[in-house]
Amino acid sequence: MSTYKAINLIARPQGGPVGPDLLQVVEKEKPVVGEGQFLIKQTHMSLDPAMFGWMSPDTESYIPPVELGSVMRSSGIGEVIESNHADFAIGDRVTGLLGMQELIVTDGQGLNKVSAPLPAETILSVFALPGLTATQGLYGIGKPKSGETIVVTGAAGSVGSIVGQLAKADGLTVVGVVGSDEKADWIITELGFDGAINYKTDDLAVKLAELTPNGIDVYFENTGGPIQHEVIKRMNTHGRIAVCGMIADYPKAEPDLAPNWIPMIKKRLTLQGFAMPDHFGDIPALQAKLTPYVMEGKIKHRAHVLEGIESAVTGLNLFFTGGNKGKLIVKL
Ligand SMILES: NC(=O)c1ccc[n+]([C@@H]2O[C@H](COP(=O)([O-])OP(=O)(O)OC[C@H]3O[C@@H](n4cnc5c(N)ncnc54)[C@H](OP(=O)(O)O)[C@@H]3O)[C@@H](O)[C@H]2O)c1
Repeated sequence: MSTYKAINLIARPQGGPVGPDLLQVVEKEKPVVGEGQFLIKQTHMSLDPAMFGWMSPDTESYIPPVELGSVMRSSGIGEVIESNHADFAIGDRVTGLLGMQELIVTDGQGLNKVSAPLPAETILSVFALPGLTATQGLYGIGKPKSGETIVVTGAAGSVGSIVGQLAKADGLTVVGVVGSDEKADWIITELGFDGAINYKTDDLAVKLAELTPNGIDVYFENTGGPIQHEVIKRMNTHGRIAVCGMIADYPKAEPDLAPNWIPMIKKRLTLQGFAMPDHFGDIPALQAKLTPYVMEGKIKHRAHVLEGIESAVTGLNLFFTGGNKGKLIVKL
């Protein structure tokens, strides 16, 4: 391979779908591996909703925006194919922010070796960002207790599906909010959720009341949208709200209006947003918490795999249409 492909960010989203006007596939010369460096061939690229934030010009966020004309930021997993580095040998698998590119030359900073003999799809779907995010948000903020009720939005997604299964394993009543009957059926039949709400077709207030007769103690928020107002109304005293994502608002010029905050006072609710870069130092502890659930077969996942780097350019839109059934991954 004397050349390789990468995807550069060439313009910022203005609302509407992502396409070649924003993300440009370019051909590059294979890099030379210097002393103390190694070359990674990325095998699986992770697509994540956070990438829309990284494309925006917002300098106030938890991570700087991607500069126009440079390789788009993304995480992934790959294999070392050349090495002049004492700690990384040919054949080692590594994961981290590899960017949207087939080859990466690096000194290894910020990357982690993958020692577990698991398929790349399982690592990206469970042990990487989705599982770490689910574990941090649920236990760090949600503080679930057996017998309580949790509502999870984006419940068939990579983060939401793990949150719901962890909560179910801990003895909570788990209700998931999804955008299709197929996803509703999957989270109940396959993942063991107690109930599902299709936010596109159900009467939200009626269905939520039916499924949460004892109110709601924990709310894991991945999406925003009208269900948020209904959930806040049904929160129990001292309920906890983990604000993980707000995908319904990402494509909008103006976010939706927030719910009424009076219940926050009357019910003494705790609401906390979080972003995983704050918790990268906690990864060993988060993995130690998550792994036993996985080993006991309590965490199922599904991956939605696209083929070839070019498929990432429009593949990202699946997050907004709900077309992704599980963790969105591009196999390179
Ligand atoms: N805070 C952090 O550090 C952190 C880390 C990772 C992820 N996140 C956030 O967590 C959320 C889930 O991420 P993920 O990777 O697991 O993605 P995902 O849930 O696998 O995919 C996104 C899903 O969101 C749903 N959706 C899209 N538009 C919606 C709308 N208008 N209203 C309601 N639902 C909508 C779609 O499912 P339906 O078919 O069900 O509509 C879509 O499949 C995202 O908001 C992401 O930004 C945050």
